[in-house]
Amino acid sequence: MIKLGHRGYSEKYPENTMIAFKKAIEGNFDGIETDIHLTKDNKLVLIHDEKINRTSNGKGYVKDYTYNELCKFNFNYHFKDVEARIPLLEELLDYCSEKDVILNLEIKTDKIHYKNIEQMTYDLVKQKGLLQKVIFSSFYLESLLKLREIDKTLYLGYLFEDNYEINKEKVFEYKFNAAHPKYVFLNEKEINDYHSKGIDVNTWTVNNDEIKDFLFEEGVKVIITNRDI
Ligand code: G3P
Ligand code: CA
Repeated sequence: MIKLGHRGYSEKYPENTMIAFKKAIEGNFDGIETDIHLTKDNKLVLIHDEKINRTSNGKGYVKDYTYNELCKFNFNYHFKDVEARIPLLEELLDYCSEKDVILNLEIKTDKIHYKNIEQMTYDLVKQKGLLQKVIFSSFYLESLLKLREIDKTLYLGYLFEDNYEINKEKVFEYKFNAAHPKYVFLNEKEINDYHSKGIDVNTWTVNNDEIKDFLFEEGVKVIITNRDI
């Protein structure tokens, strides 16, 4: 089973910052999960929300700031006495390039359909030689289909939380490499349904040891967790 730090080691460090990524990778995690948005000047940055309000001392949409403008804010979330800048995807890829890690890059296009974000992400990952180490995921089906059009060999995971049955069928219909449902939907039968069709099960956000053990026994491939469980 592969254990990925959800937004980095986010239980102990400010989510989606280089310190959270480094601590996960230096620690007991096999890699990290992170979220990609696009700035006003077309830079790929790592942040969960469309807005910077929750995780920084600023306000407003990521898409309305240039990268340099975003760098003026402190993205320390609620961790006092920490100074943290918003990272570029490129910084994370450079940090990981020589390391034995798995990266789950979530294209955050379910609310804002950033133009060309799929191609830009792909180009950068390819340029850094990391295509084999990346799981591309999205809640937005179109983003996964665009990625497949760009390169049919990519490992694609379809994220879903609502409308479980409908989305499960989409995983089968489009033959994605992996289903990425929220863990609460998973039981022996559900996991077997995917496995019987050769589809991996990768799930989130698993912060409980007993649930992790159950998922491990059932052959779930990846868990995404905030904690070092
Ligand atoms: O990729 C798993 C998980 O990160 C999806 O939910 O809202 O934390 O991006 P969210
Ligand atoms: Ca995510």
